[in-house]
Amino acid sequence: MNGCPVHFDPLSPEQLADPYPLYARMRDECPVFHDAEHDLWIVTRYEDVMTVVRDPKTFSSENAVRASVQPLPAPVLAVLAEGWPLTPTLTDSDGDVHRRLRLLVSKAFTPRRVQELEDTVRRTADELIDGFAGEGRADVIDRFAWHLPLITIADVLGVPREDVPLLHRWSYSWLRLMQATDPVEDLVACASDVVSMQRYFMDALGRRERDGGSDLMAELLTARIAGGEPLTRVEAMRVPMNLIIAGHVTVTRAIGNGLTTLLADPGQLEAVRRDPALVPTMVEEILRFESPAQGLFRTVREDTELGGVGIPAGARVMVHWGSGNRDERVFPDAARFDVARDSAASHLAFGKGVHACLGAPLARLQLRIAIPRLLDRLPGLRLAEGADTAVRDTIFFARGFKKLTLAWDAEAA
Ligand code: HEM
Repeated sequence: MNGCPVHFDPLSPEQLADPYPLYARMRDECPVFHDAEHDLWIVTRYEDVMTVVRDPKTFSSENAVRASVQPLPAPVLAVLAEGWPLTPTLTDSDGDVHRRLRLLVSKAFTPRRVQELEDTVRRTADELIDGFAGEGRADVIDRFAWHLPLITIADVLGVPREDVPLLHRWSYSWLRLMQATDPVEDLVACASDVVSMQRYFMDALGRRERDGGSDLMAELLTARIAGGEPLTRVEAMRVPMNLIIAGHVTVTRAIGNGLTTLLADPGQLEAVRRDPALVPTMVEEILRFESPAQGLFRTVREDTELGGVGIPAGARVMVHWGSGNRDERVFPDAARFDVARDSAASHLAFGKGVHACLGAPLARLQLRIAIPRLLDRLPGLRLAEGADTAVRDTIFFARGFKKLTLAWDAEAA
């Protein structure tokens, strides 16, 4: 496999701009590819991704969000030691530990609870758009795309809205800590933010232990599965952290990816404008075509074989949802963006198997509202002219914009 002539370098400007031709080559020529630079086995075909996620015993979720398993630098670990262990969370646990967490969180985070959010999401989206519609030009990531999902999940958890900007900053510090490519002094600052986030939720849960409450945080403390123990406060603390981070950075990216993809394809944009019944398939197609979570990681527990390639115990695997979603073997004409394509049941953007996204119904609800509202309320929406209007975020396993300046006809808005 090392003979495969590709250079997997997801943070390079070329691959940030358009990684898909490279993934197509990898799927054809080296579908299970050992990338020596990152010491990662990159799994790019749909079928192989499915094999991995269907076998969590062999492919453990330990360190599922860490590209590297090199220990963090000592000064960073020293700061983290002032807080509580970062794991286990839903995302990075296995077996019974994961099952118990997932059942308990699912009890509090029910589909009914999500459905009840529809009006709030609609109102929040409109209030945010009111804030900039008259300006004719704005960075929609900074003014809209992170606020909407974060306000939504904060409301469910029972977090006051004035704390939302702080949670946004802490979430990005957590992501940077997981990626661990920044200089040590920056990582120390990130670790300090993460510990602040832990303290914030320990305090918030402590208040609910004392005073009760009806929000998701209060329910997390009391949820039980037959005969089992409820979550401890430390276990419960990791849940809102997990939901806040997983639930907002992904939706933020999906909004930016969706807008840029639609604006680059006027025919598809026009099709969905003409027929709003296409909005649900449009959302799935955005997620398939430009998956916000490009891939996550697994640790191999025993020597195994995947796609005819031997992988040793202890190896690290990247399951590449973004590449699997472009696999021509499964999605006909996979490189074509088609708002009428119905891939909700098959695409990998929310993962598959025991760890499949717990927030998918909430993400879908938000995207089905957010993107049409932006298109309706900002007539003549287009990419703004000028340098640095669309700047990609440089997170190894995610795909999206940290800045996306759009323009529209303000008088008509
Ligand atoms: C477009 C938006 C979203 C995308 C693309 C996305 C993607 C994913 C993916 C790929 C996984 C699987 C991880 C794995 O197999 O290792 C996952 C898991 C998860 N997601 Fe999402 N997600 C989104 C939105 C949300 C939202 C809104 C929430 C909650 C508020 C959420 C909460 C979670 C949680 C808790 C897990 C872990 C589930 C488990 O391990 O059992 N996600 N997500």
